[in-house]
Amino acid sequence: MNDFPLCESAANSVFFCGGIGITPVVPMIRRLERLGAHWRLHFAARHRARAAYAEELALLPEADARVTMHLENEGTRVDLRRIIAQSPAGTHFYCCGPRGMVDGFIEACSSLPPEQVHFERFAAASESATEGGFEVVLKRCGRRIPVPTGKTILDVLLDEGVNVQYACSAGVCGTCRTGVVDGVPDHRDDFLTDEEKASNSAIMVCCSGSSSPTLVLDL
Ligand code: FES
Repeated sequence: MNDFPLCESAANSVFFCGGIGITPVVPMIRRLERLGAHWRLHFAARHRARAAYAEELALLPEADARVTMHLENEGTRVDLRRIIAQSPAGTHFYCCGPRGMVDGFIEACSSLPPEQVHFERFAAASESATEGGFEVVLKRCGRRIPVPTGKTILDVLLDEGVNVQYACSAGVCGTCRTGVVDGVPDHRDDFLTDEEKASNSAIMVCCSGSSSPTLVLDL
């Protein structure tokens, strides 16, 4: 079953995309544009320079009014509930992005007729590191927290009450980026550049692990 068909008869359509989730949405928007239907796009990315299709989107008619970029480096987040609540009755909603974003979307749409709700998850290219067997050290307070098999660094940080921001839990959105003070991360994300990964100065704690027995985090 295709959970992500375009409803061409909808008078209004609102799209939520995260990262590369924009890819299937661009042709859908172009189609609606040809049909003369109303659409809005909310596109979450880390920053404009890394947002796929940003230039094409900017060229769409009335792009300023219809495309909203939610950029992590500018501190803007997608407020799914507010946007959905403020949309006209009968609007069809679409979400394509990482698991966490789609889960939040499904929850935010829980009171809507299912035929108006469309989503597609994409998975990170690599499996999350859950092998465990290392310790993370929080530089600012000196706490040492073991990471056991079956858990990610993010899992143990949240279990221990450490305040860490996260969204996709799949290594694609960039929200959980954390500075590395010492140690060698086992990078499993699709967010950091190859240069950033090679520098070992940052880690996406939602999915990456450690190749060294201890990883000192800037937390
Ligand atoms: S929470 Fe999205 S990359 Fe970690």
